[in-house]
Amino acid sequence: MTLQPLFPVALGQVALPADPLEGALLMRAMLALRGEAESNPDPLCAWTGDLNGVDQLQRDAAFAPLISRLEGHVWTYLQALGFDPAALALHLQRCWPVVGEAGQVVGRHHHPNAHLSAVYYLNGDGSGRSGCLRLWPQRQYNELVPGLAVGHGGPIRADHAGPNHAGAQQWNAPWFDVAPRAGLLVLFPACIDHAVLENNDDDDRRFSISMDFVLTAPAEPSAGGRPEYLAPHPGGWQQVAGPVS
Ligand SMILES: [Fe+2]
Repeated sequence: MTLQPLFPVALGQVALPADPLEGALLMRAMLALRGEAESNPDPLCAWTGDLNGVDQLQRDAAFAPLISRLEGHVWTYLQALGFDPAALALHLQRCWPVVGEAGQVVGRHHHPNAHLSAVYYLNGDGSGRSGCLRLWPQRQYNELVPGLAVGHGGPIRADHAGPNHAGAQQWNAPWFDVAPRAGLLVLFPACIDHAVLENNDDDDRRFSISMDFVLTAPAEPSAGGRPEYLAPHPGGWQQVAGPVS
């Protein structure tokens, strides 16, 4: 028997060369943007710029060169998935810093405002001690009985080696963790639930930049016509006036 993985989620990872000087300057800039705050505001929740009015880092001169470099890799991800760059417009909708002190987390959530999400890590040694990014599947089809993959007492054996040497850990993985490393860019569909695990590094803060992208139709229709399910380009949108009082 063969087992074929169907409908996989595309997790993109790019290990970019991290410039220590640029990284140090940006981490200092992130602390300045955070100001007096050290949480969100629960002391166990990392400070995130999106909830604190700091969500357009791409317009900040200090961050713009880095963000611009990262955008090229977003196109690579989209093209790997089959998207035709000539038939869509890609928008960076928001871009914000996340600063995690020791003991802080970011709770499980997804980004319903966007289509594609990305994270860039300014520090981290790949060990995961500063808090992994944890991603969850939208549904665990292969556990057959809902909840088994995280239930106590099996009967799915974690050490099971199935056909094609693919173990139960692959077919029924309850989640996938990504360890932060300086220079790592991660991309995933914005609908995927994710969280940041606790920063267990007492000696260092955790610094990352989150990005949300939106896909729309191009400003000018391509030769192939207008895509049915892409929103029209926002340049043509018109805000409706408020209700008459
Ligand atoms: Fe997020």
